[in-house]
Amino acid sequence: MPPDTELWNRVEATAREVFGTFGFGEIRPPIFEPTELFARSIGADTDVVGKEMYTFEDRDNSSISLRPEATASVCRAYIEHGMHAWPQPVKLYYLGPMFRRERPQKGRYRQFYQIGAEVLETVQPGQGGPKDIPKDAAVDAEVIEMVMAFFARLGLEGVQLEINSIGHAAENCRRGYVQKLKAALEQVKDKLGPDSQRRIETNPLRVLDSKLESEQAIIAGLPKISEHLCDDCAKQYAEVKRQLDLRGVKYTENWRLVRGLDYYMRTTFEITARGLGSQNAVCGGGRYDGLVELLGGLPTKGIGFAIGEDRLILSLQEAGKGGAEAGRDVFVAWMGEKAQTSAIAAAQRLRAAGFRVELPPVEQKFGKALGQADKLGARYALILGEDEIATGQWTVKTLADGAQAKMSESEFLEKLKRL
Ligand code: HAM
Repeated sequence: MPPDTELWNRVEATAREVFGTFGFGEIRPPIFEPTELFARSIGADTDVVGKEMYTFEDRDNSSISLRPEATASVCRAYIEHGMHAWPQPVKLYYLGPMFRRERPQKGRYRQFYQIGAEVLETVQPGQGGPKDIPKDAAVDAEVIEMVMAFFARLGLEGVQLEINSIGHAAENCRRGYVQKLKAALEQVKDKLGPDSQRRIETNPLRVLDSKLESEQAIIAGLPKISEHLCDDCAKQYAEVKRQLDLRGVKYTENWRLVRGLDYYMRTTFEITARGLGSQNAVCGGGRYDGLVELLGGLPTKGIGFAIGEDRLILSLQEAGKGGAEAGRDVFVAWMGEKAQTSAIAAAQRLRAAGFRVELPPVEQKFGKALGQADKLGARYALILGEDEIATGQWTVKTLADGAQAKMSESEFLEKLKRL
């Protein structure tokens, strides 16, 4: 609602502006998709798909779901619209509502808003493999740099970037690590809560995400993925850090940052901000090479992020950066039939010049009109009565200090423009 929507609009306009300077164009994916798309991309065993999706049966018995996120849709669109034939890489951003059936609390809603971006690049014949490591790492770092630039432009406070590499799905890398992790978790199973116990079977990596106080010491002693990355993934991770340094982007490493969606590989990252309590992740993202291929496209690399816009707004407001300005520039207080004709004409010209004008539909006593102008937070009251009509000199009252002056229409316009 106003005045909050002014801040939402400013945030969105800033995203468009900053992302535009990095060469991103806007994509508007649909609000719902076949359930299958999300199940295949995000993973059937994830909380998002297993517990949180709003899924419905359509009239033809097919299953559709409200989108819990947009990366899957962007990849679907990339394939459907032959974007592999566009100049590479393809850089896209989106804004809009997402839906997850989570327990609502501050900063966590069932309909929430994301601002996200994705960079997709189809691997050309003869390309790919280890020789792409420097390029991929630079792309990762630039995407992260872009979010940080956006947050800096908004004046977001207490911004902290955490990064990690979760390797790739191979025996000599993440798969091998997950086996070791699983074995270590079996050893301490009785000391873990029911959620973590269940995850040992369904998704052991997610145990690392646990916020349960009683599990923290146990988790600290578990094997770390950084010690089990394959050579290429380790090289890529080192190169991402070097590229972030080159860009002056500050980060901390967090080996427990595994993310809740199955499509990630190698680089993962999360950003937190001040004033958000327990739901303090304001942005999450990572690399997802192979997702487009999994959905039936060509071998394609991907990296992206999504910002929780609700949380971003909360953090800005907590820091007093709301700065939302509703109000009006001018309240036109008029009395008498002749004055209405002039008041309408004045309002038309002021609005055409871009000023926010309130024109009461019926005449009001000046006292009442000024009271209303005050309530609306108007800067000026333009008083139009018989005198003003006869002389062509308007009475202008500055509401902040009550000062009153006579001036012509063009003088008043000049005064407004100097604001
Ligand atoms: P995600 O971490 O699931 O990633 O969500 C990104 C951000 O959305 C979170 O950090 C949080 O700020 C916000 N968010 C998530 N759930 C809620 C909720 N229930 N209420 C309020 N805010 C929420 C993704 O969605 C990936 N698609 C990001 C990505 C893009 N990775 C690669 N490309």
